Amino acid sequence: SSTIAALPIWQGKTITITAGPTREGIDPVRYISNHSSGKMGFALAQVAKQLGAKVNLIAGPVNLATPANVSRVDVVSACEMHKASLDLAKSSDVFIACAAVADYRPDNVATQKIKKDNDVMQITMTKNPDIVKDVAALTANRPFVVGFAAETQDVEQYAKSKMQRKNLDMICANDVSVSGQGFNSDQNALKVYWDDGSKDLPLDNKDALAKHLLSLIHQTYNR
Ligand code: CTP
Ligand code: CA
Repeated sequence: SSTIAALPIWQGKTITITAGPTREGIDPVRYISNHSSGKMGFALAQVAKQLGAKVNLIAGPVNLATPANVSRVDVVSACEMHKASLDLAKSSDVFIACAAVADYRPDNVATQKIKKDNDVMQITMTKNPDIVKDVAALTANRPFVVGFAAETQDVEQYAKSKMQRKNLDMICANDVSVSGQGFNSDQNALKVYWDDGSKDLPLDNKDALAKHLLSLIHQTYNR
């Protein structure tokens, strides 16, 4: 870590970050989720605060301490995260979608515990709203929107098409097929793309990566 104090490049700006997984209920005791730890989003929140920003952190269920002076909103499901995100995005300068949002939710949440009466059970699911896409579609008070892309193949092509489809200003691609980086790891490597540029952020601790990414966002945001 640097011995020189970080310049408060984000002073006067509000940055809203989603982090962690979401949980989609099946019945009162069960849910569908994923292996996201929330570490990347929490690292971004901590560093954004250190760089002078006012920071909102919308967190799914994670086991992490709130970074100092960060305003945290806890949510459980994708629909809850969607509502909190759209509320806060409208008063934000930058929105970073770092959460691993569950793509689908069970159609029905059973009110009582489901019994194992059958040999086969099926859960029918509905697609969740796309949070970052809806934020990027805001017509008034639209923030600068940064997405992540978790891919296991054709990383650049899939990430760029995601950026285009969701109308994002920047996308950070994460090759989750490589072990020791990404999901539930302390380290990560990112390939960052924007409309007319790209940058490789090689394997590093998530807090070091967060510093690089927030300065890269700052450069692109201020062009
Ligand atoms: N995302 C979101 N809301 C969703 C799903 C994803 O805001 N319902 C965001 C993630 O936070 C991330 C980006 O969209 O910033 C890409 O997520 P990813 O799972 O890689 O892409 P999907 O659009 O869900 O497509 P797929 O999972 O099919 O690759
Ligand atoms: Ca997805």
